[in-house]
Amino acid sequence: MDLQIKSFEEYQRIYQYSVEKPEEFWAEIAEHFYWRRKWNKVLEWNFKEPNIKWFEGARLNITENCLDRHVYKLGDKPAIIWEPNDPNEAHRVLTYKQLLDKVEQFSNVLKNNGIRKGDRVCIYLPMVPELVIAVLACARIGAIHSVVFGGFSAQSIADRINDADCRLVITADGGFRGTKQIALKSIVDDALVQCKSVERVIVLTRTRTPVSMIKGRDVWWEDEIKKVETQGNPPCPAEEMNAEDLLFILYTSGSTGKPKGVVHTCAGYMVYTGYTFTNAFQYQPDEVYFCTADIGWITGHSYIIYGPLSQGATSLMFEGVPNWPDAGRLWDIVEKHKVNILYTAPTAIRSLMAAGDQYVEGKDLSTITKLGTVGEPINEEAWHWYDQKIGKGKAPIVDTWWQTETGGFLISPIAGVTPTVPGYAMLPLPGVQPILVDENGQEIEGNGVSGNLCIKYPWPGMIRTTYGDHERCRQTYFSVYENLYFTGDGCLRDENGYYRITGRVDDVLNVSGHRIGTAEVENAINMHSDVIESAVVGYPHPVKGQGIYAFVIASQHHTDEDLTRQDINQTVSRIIGAIAKPDKIQFVSGLPKTRSGKIMRRILRKIAEGDTSNLGDTTTLLDPAVVDEIKEGAEKLRG
Ligand code: PRX
Repeated sequence: MDLQIKSFEEYQRIYQYSVEKPEEFWAEIAEHFYWRRKWNKVLEWNFKEPNIKWFEGARLNITENCLDRHVYKLGDKPAIIWEPNDPNEAHRVLTYKQLLDKVEQFSNVLKNNGIRKGDRVCIYLPMVPELVIAVLACARIGAIHSVVFGGFSAQSIADRINDADCRLVITADGGFRGTKQIALKSIVDDALVQCKSVERVIVLTRTRTPVSMIKGRDVWWEDEIKKVETQGNPPCPAEEMNAEDLLFILYTSGSTGKPKGVVHTCAGYMVYTGYTFTNAFQYQPDEVYFCTADIGWITGHSYIIYGPLSQGATSLMFEGVPNWPDAGRLWDIVEKHKVNILYTAPTAIRSLMAAGDQYVEGKDLSTITKLGTVGEPINEEAWHWYDQKIGKGKAPIVDTWWQTETGGFLISPIAGVTPTVPGYAMLPLPGVQPILVDENGQEIEGNGVSGNLCIKYPWPGMIRTTYGDHERCRQTYFSVYENLYFTGDGCLRDENGYYRITGRVDDVLNVSGHRIGTAEVENAINMHSDVIESAVVGYPHPVKGQGIYAFVIASQHHTDEDLTRQDINQTVSRIIGAIAKPDKIQFVSGLPKTRSGKIMRRILRKIAEGDTSNLGDTTTLLDPAVVDEIKEGAEKLRG
């Protein structure tokens, strides 16, 4: 069986096969990868514990699949094209050969600094090629990477480092994003005050911002490289890993206050990201593929690094932001590097669309053959704009639905092979068995129905555990509905059997494609000394998809409410990061609670949406009068 599906008829046939004979199907897919030793058993599983093992007995290293196996044929092919934040700075190209050399070199740096198989390494770097090198070097020696997005605060870094007991942190002096400079090392320094497990910090030079370097703990990336060079740049053969050895941890928000460390393992994740990448995008040998995500999120892990590189693709990474120096930057990059496949988020599309067509006009986008979106539902207007202005009506758009926990795409069009409909993720990829259930876990069969989206059979890229707390994994994903993986998403299956994701059904917000738990934001707001209690809900936001709306009870009446709002925002930035700052803060004297003390979020959501015509039954509230007060306050806030 070829890895790429080429026609709709083939898709239907293979899909059927993958359901009837899943183990045979996945074994055939896995044959397309390089194994030091093949598996004894394709799959062992139960969703009760859960216990999920793919390709047991197999031995491999994912970096041999991403690098070594390509070098003979594709050694001079660009693996990574890096476009800097500042368009006047030179871009960089790393061929497969060069990337392998650099990964081996940095693997030796890690070893020289005492890092061994199984150690956890926290990576907090800007979007520079060294981030890819650091990630792959960890994977090469079997260290488990935990990449933290550059927008997270010192407190968030400390929580993640402590949860995983990281021994090493890899960071940079600073990072560029548009006109801003982010003082990464200084943020790490603040974090490390709370982290006992960290023995070493490797600091890359990027902005050359002054930084404090602590003797015995902090070393420069460049100096460490020089040491390896004076050792004669010895090769660093890849560590042989077991199929289910941990590859990485990536933290994500849920409905509780504490982010979870989603764990992915070597073999299944490798097979799944490679298979989904090549299929959904129908990657062709000379195409340049550009994913605008940050490597700090799962999209960057799976579809800037592992998926594309395991398929020998050219992956373009961008350090900056889409609207600087102006809203034409992405189109300049497409033109400059002759990008064929562009994969971005609806929030970026909406903001560039809002900036005006003048930024697209005159740009040569003729190289584009395929487009993709990810992270949140895309509205029809943005879909058509993307299709017409960027794809010129000729490039299929793959609306890829997936999650940090799924490792790769589950429901997505296959470009040019399966149909597309604006706003729909369409059909499951072969190997994926979605089902819709009602509140009680009863399957909702047939078409033209909506329900909670679950998956009833394992796939290789799925979450194995939440780091250090397996019970939490079980409770969150496998206990809501018996024998099913619960996604947390609501979903419609239309008359044609096409899937459309309608959004989260739990207390998780999706702000600009970033997952943020309301409880997490509430905890952060409540840290502010003047706050007694808060309730956070999402509301529709024209660019971000969802905005964050906070109802706050403050301990004293402030004459300058705006200043208090800024104080609260500052607190949230400190505790979580600027990405979690509320867009709106409304001060209230009470919250709508039931007699048992539960906040009626349904009412707050309606008020935040500006739809107060029908708030439903409010008679069970402890103090129904508070609702009118909140309604009035909301109208005032809207102006
Ligand atoms: O609600 C879904 C939404 O993003 C959630 C997963 O977020 P995260 O783990 O951060 O991963 C984002 C990148 C994969 C999902 O539960 N989501 C993701 N993709 C789509 C989507 N909603 C609608 N359409 C999509 N294509």
